[in-house]
Amino acid sequence: MTPPDNAPAADPHSREHYQMLIGGAWRDAADGRRFDSVNPFDATHWADVPLAGEDDVDAAVRAARAAFDTGTWPATPPARRAALLRRLGDLITERADDLARVQVLENGKLIREVAGQTRALAGHCYFYAGVAETMHGQTLAASVPNLHVFTVREPIGVVAAITPWNSPLALLLWKLCPALAAGNTLVVKPSEVTPVSTLILGELITEAGFPDGVVNIVTGEGPTGAALARHPGVDKIAFTGSTAVGKTIAVSAAERLARVSLELGGKSPNIIFPDADLPNAVNGVLAGIFAATGQTCMAGSRVLVQEDIHDDFAAALVERTRQIKIGDPLDPETEMGTVACLSQHRKILDYIDIARQEGATLLTGGKRPDDAALARGLFVEPTIFADVTNDMRIAREEVFGPVVVLIPYRDEDHAVEIANDTPFGLAAGVWTTDVARAHRMARRLRAGTVWINNYRKTNYVAPFGGFGESGLGRENGIDAVNEYTEVKTVWIDMGNRIADPFNPRA
Ligand code: NAI
Ligand code: MG
Repeated sequence: MTPPDNAPAADPHSREHYQMLIGGAWRDAADGRRFDSVNPFDATHWADVPLAGEDDVDAAVRAARAAFDTGTWPATPPARRAALLRRLGDLITERADDLARVQVLENGKLIREVAGQTRALAGHCYFYAGVAETMHGQTLAASVPNLHVFTVREPIGVVAAITPWNSPLALLLWKLCPALAAGNTLVVKPSEVTPVSTLILGELITEAGFPDGVVNIVTGEGPTGAALARHPGVDKIAFTGSTAVGKTIAVSAAERLARVSLELGGKSPNIIFPDADLPNAVNGVLAGIFAATGQTCMAGSRVLVQEDIHDDFAAALVERTRQIKIGDPLDPETEMGTVACLSQHRKILDYIDIARQEGATLLTGGKRPDDAALARGLFVEPTIFADVTNDMRIAREEVFGPVVVLIPYRDEDHAVEIANDTPFGLAAGVWTTDVARAHRMARRLRAGTVWINNYRKTNYVAPFGGFGESGLGRENGIDAVNEYTEVKTVWIDMGNRIADPFNPRA
């Protein structure tokens, strides 16, 4: 299969040119190198951005260090930090249509989803503005008289936020908002697939009035991210992306015991019980895997179906899947857009071959669509495999595309056994009308999120993250601020004299 032609646009002068944000100034890379943002729907190279090298990363970390070490940001009163976050939320709302459109141009995700997701981003800013104002330590009752013991939460320092392309702004704000609320400064490295949306957000951060150097943005590929992760001036790395890269980041952080939080891959089970509302469960499977073209860490990519209803459920799922409208991601009627980039397109088609070789049965999809009007786009048909066992690679490895496998099970225990037999543990879905079973399953599944009769819901109030190889730490919710603070304990003596300097308990 020949890959679509991703040749540069006929007229390079029609391209948009962007700079990156370091210490409050918009800059090119020190060595002048640049790279393109490519629209995966029509293959146009519509924008270019700086390719940051080690010197640029170093300059950005220095700017973030200066804004932290001089107290510019950590000593800014929480009420002021909160006001700036609220202002950023307002500006995001004003520019939401633009921000949504640019994300679609970069990653081919549906405007139908991205428009709402982008409008909801202001909520993150407002919520963490509230957290900045209400964050507090504790007063402790020590078992010794005349001591006042209390804790304070202090920012960690310079945070490197390394983000992926699938929801570039949402996954950045999940890090940026709690980090800023707590008084940290940041260097952001967006995915090479989606640099422009993050740079536009940088314009809004500047316009909101955050002091210079509080948020810096360097654009580049893997080596730029690696240079940032190993920089000694970075105190904490917050990463979303592949498990493979997440592990290399954890290793480079371990060298200097920098803090890390990692939101990585998944192979999440979506479990259909015979007592489910089955038409709703069919929609739940679509929402879990074909929405976002399967390019989401929380994709419900293993569908476990009880064996007595397996064939009927599979038939209903195939029928609805064949009606999915594939097309221009900017058309609000479209139900599935492209995948984000050529390497993803190849990876997904490779996994389809692997599944075939492993003996899985292709029920529908399995190739690029035949429609000539879609020939330039990085499309893959929504694909369903049956006769899959949980030991096959197609059931164990993350495809990150519109490919789902159906795995039959006998009973609840068997479903739990298959569901938990994975190195990952990001999410799980359960479809049942039995309330006792719903609660049992919620407790038995080893995953950071369990959705009962819904799938792919997230909210800024709700912690999100993974068990096992799906990552470390939690994003969202009040507790996310713990990922961006150190606890300091302060002991004040209220009038004791030191009775015995060689025995602290005397
Ligand atoms: P990736 O993990 O390579 O990229 C994520 C981010 O890390 C990007 O900003 C990238 O430039 C940066 N990066 C790459 N190598 C790095 C390194 N050595 N050190 C520091 N930063 C580095 O993901 P990629 O290549 O975009 O996609 C590959 C696979 O990763 C996907 O097929 C999917 O399975 C998984 N993935 C998971 C995501 C999630 O939401 N958990 C998001 C994106 C991808
Ligand atoms: Mg990669």
